[in-house]
Amino acid sequence: MNIVGIDVGYSNLKVAYGRNETPSPKTILRPAGAAPEDRFGSRLDGKDSEEFLRVVVNGKKFIAGVSPDRAQMWSRSLHAEYSSSESYQALFKAGLLLAGMEQIDMLVTGLPVLQYLDEQRKKSLINYMTGIHEILPGKIVDIKKVKVVSQPIGGFLDFISRSNEDIEDASILVIDPGFFSVDWVVISNDEIHKHSSGTSLTASSVLLEEASALISKDHGTGISAEMLENAIRQNKTTIMVLGQRIEIAPYLRIARKSIGPVITEEIQKSLRNENKMVDIVVMVGGGATFFMEAVKEAFPRLKILLTQDAVFSNCRGFWMLGAASE
Ligand SMILES: Nc1ncnc2c1ncn2[C@@H]1O[C@H](COP(=O)(O)OP(=O)(O)OP(=O)(O)O)[C@@H](O)[C@H]1O
Ligand SMILES: [Mg+2]
Repeated sequence: MNIVGIDVGYSNLKVAYGRNETPSPKTILRPAGAAPEDRFGSRLDGKDSEEFLRVVVNGKKFIAGVSPDRAQMWSRSLHAEYSSSESYQALFKAGLLLAGMEQIDMLVTGLPVLQYLDEQRKKSLINYMTGIHEILPGKIVDIKKVKVVSQPIGGFLDFISRSNEDIEDASILVIDPGFFSVDWVVISNDEIHKHSSGTSLTASSVLLEEASALISKDHGTGISAEMLENAIRQNKTTIMVLGQRIEIAPYLRIARKSIGPVITEEIQKSLRNENKMVDIVVMVGGGATFFMEAVKEAFPRLKILLTQDAVFSNCRGFWMLGAASE
């Protein structure tokens, strides 16, 4: 069976794909920027930029998989209606293009915890994703079955498949710091504790904005959060400000110290509903390292674990769920 796990985030598009017989999927990460083709400037040499993924959405030509600040006059979707936006649909189709399968037997994706609890939203996403998609004129992908889970569940499944921690009877808190939202769930005995799970919008975007404001203040010029986001995605440790190379780590450290505790307080509040304290905390998602320190301070007695290549955790877990289903 052809299985795809796809995580269309606000910052990154992550795809895990492969046949269910293989032990692990292939993974791809692209920036989650998408906009109509006419919003992009042309290159000096007239060639297409290599990273452009061209797709058609509602009859309109879109370019997807580029950094979100590349398109001119196209605002980034930072709102809960993301999953019904054309940008999201363009990224979804770009993900199908990257997976390179004409027929997908099972596709698994995730929604932020709060949105997942909205039955209608879940249903409309399944309806949208199931069936035949025309990615480009004449290029068709047929999706037979779709499953939607809450995003951190992917990270949880990825964690158990890779770890030899003793988790029997354990109550596990999974925290998924993304760009737009930080999501968390508490799981024990294969059950999700809805009342101790939640979504906070004080996420990596807020932290990067704080760091960019600090850099702007120090250097007397405006720096956008996207500049930092792009640098981190490309594993760069510096950015250019007025012709000078600036180290970004010290600014991220200060931002982490002020933003981290805001999140952990929200998580601690939601855990008040638990009659037993959690045993293990698992950090997944691209922003995991940003919030690690704050989580350690908030839960000093607990074991805090970070998944390997945390940015891919959710989509790897989605793929595993798909591969394990009939
Ligand atoms: N190696 C990396 N690649 C990409 N982003 C990274 C990486 N390391 C850290 N980040 C940071 O992680 C954050 C994005 O993480 P992630 O891809 O999990 O978010 P997302 O799923 O797109 O967002 P959301 O869950 O809110 O929709 C960004 O703020 C980014 O700067
Ligand atoms: Mg995410």
